[in-house]
Amino acid sequence: MTNGVATTAHPIERVGVVGSGAMGAGIVELCAVRGLDVRLAVSRESSLTSAPQRIAASLNRRVAKQKLTEDERDAALARISLTTDLADLGDRQLVIEAVPEDESIKLDLFATLDKVLEPDAILASTTSAITITKLARATTRPQRVLGIHFFNPVVAMPLVELVPTLLTDQDVSRRAESFIADTLDRRPLPTQDRSGFVVNALLVPYLLSAIRMVESGFSSAELVDQGMELGCAHPMGPLRLCDMIGLDVVAAAADALYGEFKEPLYTPPPLLSRMVESGFLGRKSGRGFYDYA
Ligand SMILES: NC(=O)c1ccc[n+]([C@@H]2O[C@H](COP(=O)([O-])OP(=O)(O)OC[C@H]3O[C@@H](n4cnc5c(N)ncnc54)[C@H](O)[C@@H]3O)[C@@H](O)[C@H]2O)c1
Repeated sequence: MTNGVATTAHPIERVGVVGSGAMGAGIVELCAVRGLDVRLAVSRESSLTSAPQRIAASLNRRVAKQKLTEDERDAALARISLTTDLADLGDRQLVIEAVPEDESIKLDLFATLDKVLEPDAILASTTSAITITKLARATTRPQRVLGIHFFNPVVAMPLVELVPTLLTDQDVSRRAESFIADTLDRRPLPTQDRSGFVVNALLVPYLLSAIRMVESGFSSAELVDQGMELGCAHPMGPLRLCDMIGLDVVAAAADALYGEFKEPLYTPPPLLSRMVESGFLGRKSGRGFYDYA
């Protein structure tokens, strides 16, 4: 029951996730801890080893902080299976895509998933700024496609944006809302399908402004971050946050927002583009505005 509306369909119990980066791994961990049978599809053989290690390391940190018992960790790990073959997602009721923020990769993936999933399966994207309608149109089931936009780190952040399109069935939206609120115990924020939805449409221009301050020599990354952490009580300053999100993700989100609105405030600053081209992607590559070596 969500917003007083009863959902008639079976609850979602079998979930597929595609992509094992920060978001995919986090979504798998959250689903497994919440008791779901979750299958992770990865594109590289090496991820069959590295992805479970990453998830286990995160679960171990939660055990160390006494947020989870060892038994709960073991039960969660036992609910996770992995595959390199998208066809193995064929029995999933919901598949959440978490591959890089690249429109062509996501369109290809949606077209393929559409072929392997049961006709009544729901297909969701955790894209930051690509419109869900574009992804839905790559499938033959646009009425069963919507955005389920998690935040990073997934296991710690309570908000999930829920993004139905003009084509999404109301029942699919209600099921997804119940999944987020009742099954995952997260706070769904319903939003319309516009690039960036609510949060990134506000957050991305703020991050880009911080990068421009550093680029122009007006201030340093450390001082800008200090300003927002100590002056505005933000838990993390904008440059540190860019490093955590991934500079490639920030740049791709800026491109998508600019494509949608044509507002100069969404254009990626050249410094951001050069850092991405140089492989300085933030924490995940070991170097961004800060050094993580
Ligand atoms: N990083 C964030 O803070 C954040 C927050 C919210 C939403 N998002 C969105 O979530 C999505 C994923 O972001 P991320 O930060 O985890 O990205 P990432 O680049 O860290 O990870 C993406 C993963 O997908 C894998 N991959 C690439 N092509 C694939 C394919 N065809 N099949 C299976 N796996 C494939 C890559 O190897 C990589 O492991 C993006 O759309 C991003 O915009 C990111």
